[in-house]
Amino acid sequence: MEIFRTVAELRKWSRAVRSQTGNTVGLVPTMGALHAGHASLIRAARASCSRVAVSIFVNPTQFGPNEDFSRYPRTFDADCALAEAEGADVIFAPTVEELYPEGAATFVDVEGLGNRLDGASRPGHFRGVATVVAKLLIAAEPDRAYFGQKDAAQVAVVRRMAADLCVATQIVVCPIVRESDGLALSSRNLYLNPVERSQALALSRSILEVKALIASGERRAVTLIQAARQTLAAEPQIRVDHIALVDWSTLEPLEVAAPGTLFAVAAWVGSTRLIDNTILE
Ligand code: PAF
Repeated sequence: MEIFRTVAELRKWSRAVRSQTGNTVGLVPTMGALHAGHASLIRAARASCSRVAVSIFVNPTQFGPNEDFSRYPRTFDADCALAEAEGADVIFAPTVEELYPEGAATFVDVEGLGNRLDGASRPGHFRGVATVVAKLLIAAEPDRAYFGQKDAAQVAVVRRMAADLCVATQIVVCPIVRESDGLALSSRNLYLNPVERSQALALSRSILEVKALIASGERRAVTLIQAARQTLAAEPQIRVDHIALVDWSTLEPLEVAAPGTLFAVAAWVGSTRLIDNTILE
């Protein structure tokens, strides 16, 4: 497996792969601290692309001033081992200066969507995400790029950005991967102490509760949100950030759930902000 540090190396490799008739490139953008959720994205890319690149870049522009950029887990050697074991051909691990050269002044703002859900409580977060993902897509020129449904609002922002900027890459969304007890996998789960780890289960419980209500025919946002709120309230240490039923394309609130609708929760467990969601079938 090769490790590239520059855009030029990545682009040269991608163009060489794609110059052969029928060959395709898949890109799995990550910030490292890879877990089984990332492994599932790499496997999905492996299954449908000729070659797979995994980017590992803790993107400073998507962190607010008081967020966890400096303490975000950096586990490069373990990440390379996992990516290789899952069949990645290339790691792209640029420096900050490589992706944000001196004087960098161009950012991608996805208006409206960028300020909803996580974007409402993390101002500037989705501007940073849209900017870095645009850079990665321009650098790698992949046929497909793989994202996890766990970051459902991010998916909406990335899809909108790719459509608006006429990006040819197909955005592929893979299902949430969970621990055996239901907790959605996240690199930030590493921050949880054992007590918080057990409290965090309230998020997946609230999603299960909402799924059960939907299965029983309930569609009203107010009822679904109230049920999730009650489940989260059973853990008094948890502070709710948002509970929302929204259109998955626009992230606009809905009063009634319909197929394709996103039900999302975000909550603080101690000092760790976790998210979970379900998409209505
Ligand atoms: O989901 C993530 O890990 C990041 O937001 C992404 C898409 C790699 C952009 O930095």
